[in-house]
Amino acid sequence: MKTFSRNLTQETSISQNDFIWPVFIVDGINQKREIKKMPLVYRYSLDKLIPEIEHLVKFGLQAIAIFPQVENDKKDEIGTDAVNPQNLVCNAVRKIKRYFPELGIVCDVALDPYTSHGHDGVITDNNIDNDKTISILKKQAVLQAEAGCDIIAPSDMMDGRVLKIREELEKNNFKDIMIMSYSAKYASSFYGPFRDAVDSKKLIKPSHKKTYQMNPANFEVALNEVEMDISEGADMVIIKPGMPYLDIISKCKDQFRVPIFAYQVSGEYSMLMSAAKMNYLNLNDIVLESLISFKRAGADGFFSYFTPLILEKLQK
Ligand code: PBG
Repeated sequence: MKTFSRNLTQETSISQNDFIWPVFIVDGINQKREIKKMPLVYRYSLDKLIPEIEHLVKFGLQAIAIFPQVENDKKDEIGTDAVNPQNLVCNAVRKIKRYFPELGIVCDVALDPYTSHGHDGVITDNNIDNDKTISILKKQAVLQAEAGCDIIAPSDMMDGRVLKIREELEKNNFKDIMIMSYSAKYASSFYGPFRDAVDSKKLIKPSHKKTYQMNPANFEVALNEVEMDISEGADMVIIKPGMPYLDIISKCKDQFRVPIFAYQVSGEYSMLMSAAKMNYLNLNDIVLESLISFKRAGADGFFSYFTPLILEKLQK
């Protein structure tokens, strides 16, 4: 096939409009610390992050998703700092919005960066306490909305949280805030490097998230979760991880009429990055191929740690 006909008949493509850049932030100034298991991914203090964003906005960056590494002495059993209006995330949102009012900001709603045990929820009798957790999450969501966040992204996987968050946002007069729910979130080993990055890896009692994240062997339950979240008020949904779960994206695209986002998670990033570092594979090619696979499967966009690397290249 000649290049022109290949181009003319290409069914999907990626553009700068598809990217959400997940960023890790830390307190302090002048910090740009590489995450060991994620080469070229950094934890930034805000003064260092702002110029990076400025640079990427020039290349068409549409939105970022913020993840905090909270200092250990601020963590406790119930994730109190999650509902502190002056916490790292709320302060970051206010500041970033001041510099870039047009940039979309996505905030994770979950307790894992804030709890001493690393779980997304509160623990009662060695179990994640669904309802008690939701009562905290809905406050967390309202505080993030007050700080100026555009999209609330519950990643905790508690049952019924989308409805409660939606009600709480309405009650506080946040009618335009979007909810992008991590609806189909699998209990995946591909999250390993992320847990290092936000320092939530030492999960204690229980030592896994299998009671609230989904079994990678299951399919139907993903459709159920997506359907439930949409009926509870989610405007958009996330399938996570990305590449090992393209079948889920594809099925959801067929079945539902809401925007779908793939999350190319930390382990996927590390996997591609390390193969490239070993010179086993060509980084640019494999990243582009992985991203286009999300679009082909039916995703409207994706979260990718490769955003800085690829956005620049797309313009060239
Ligand atoms: C936690 C959360 C996780 C990720 C995003 N939000 C990890 C987890 O569930 O343990 C993972 C992202 C990644 O691996 O890149 N609420």
